[in-house]
Amino acid sequence: MGPLVTSTECHRSFSGASSGTCRDLDVDGRQTNSSDLPVWPLMDTSPVTRVEPEGNLNPSAIVTTGKKMERVGKMITRNWGERSEGRERKRGRERLEGKIAIITGAASGIGEASARLFVEHGAHVIIADIQDELGLQVVSSIGTDKACYRHCDVTDEKQVEGTVAYAVEKYGTLDIMFSNAGMLGTFGSLLDMDVKEFDLTIAVNTRGAALAVKHAARVMVAKNIRGSIICTASVESILAGAAPLAYIASKHGILGVVKAAARELGKNGIRVNCVSPFGIATPMVCKSYGAEASYIETSVGGHANLKGVSLTTKHIAEAALFLASEESAYISGQNLAVDGGLSAIMRLD
Ligand SMILES: NC(=O)c1ccc[n+]([C@@H]2O[C@H](COP(=O)([O-])OP(=O)(O)OC[C@H]3O[C@@H](n4cnc5c(N)ncnc54)[C@H](O)[C@@H]3O)[C@@H](O)[C@H]2O)c1
Repeated sequence: MGPLVTSTECHRSFSGASSGTCRDLDVDGRQTNSSDLPVWPLMDTSPVTRVEPEGNLNPSAIVTTGKKMERVGKMITRNWGERSEGRERKRGRERLEGKIAIITGAASGIGEASARLFVEHGAHVIIADIQDELGLQVVSSIGTDKACYRHCDVTDEKQVEGTVAYAVEKYGTLDIMFSNAGMLGTFGSLLDMDVKEFDLTIAVNTRGAALAVKHAARVMVAKNIRGSIICTASVESILAGAAPLAYIASKHGILGVVKAAARELGKNGIRVNCVSPFGIATPMVCKSYGAEASYIETSVGGHANLKGVSLTTKHIAEAALFLASEESAYISGQNLAVDGGLSAIMRLD
């Protein structure tokens, strides 16, 4: 099977490695959230009402007065600040520090954005794809000390197994499998459904995910690794929106794979989850619609529930990062929809 997605017309979601014309798929910078810090009524001179025992750092539980209040407030604010800084550090580079991740379909789009973000957060990433040239370009722009490329067609079990074996041979372990490779296929009525394309879509999207889960899990179980496995499904795993029947069926199938795997692997401490994006103008989507990125973006924006923000590959990468990291330590068997609420609502107005 040849490459399914060859168009570079709307390729690239990140600045720095851009070879295409897709304009606003970039997300720059990171939002900071100052609302983490408690607001203290330090100037309050009202009578004493209650003084909590020392060591109680719950800001809402402490009400006191005058100098004592100021001293306690400062102590707590300092302590809270330190804890907040610690949290920020965790949210920063250390979120995947030292972790080894395989990302399939990482030569482009969501996979590429995730590879860059995982590396930014301290992971080593194996970029597994069938687009060798693009994959190697991504590796060289990330840095060969942090990423490497492996040709892997996810429809071929031997190649999936070989990619996992390569990771273990190179790094001695595998902590994260992000099964993300996918195809959309051609649009048309089910009355004219091409059964060969149906089989291929299932082979890439559903069986490919099952194989990635299987071989990652084998290594994680054998080596006693409490790993995280993530699959890219879609809003089309929840509802039938605007996609070919085979794609919708294949993405619903991924949910079954994830739930079954989460059930079996829970005893090993291995978590298995999905991330389900709404529409983004990646090469896969542009190619299937036969449209420019700008057209897709306008169309997706028009159907979006959440206005004022455009969905990008970086948003999906952030969701995958959360599922890969310890911040989601007790989350398994879930389908995290990154769709601005679209799949949760029915607009009747
Ligand atoms: N872009 C969207 O709107 C959207 C929405 C929901 C879900 N998704 C899912 O996101 C995933 C990534 O797609 P994308 O939007 O980033 O598109 P993309 O075209 O940018 O990336 C898909 C990647 O998968 C690779 N791939 C395809 N077939 C493969 C195979 N047999 N073996 C290995 N790699 C293969 C391609 O070479 C490509 O690099 C897919 O699973 C897709 O279904 C995308």
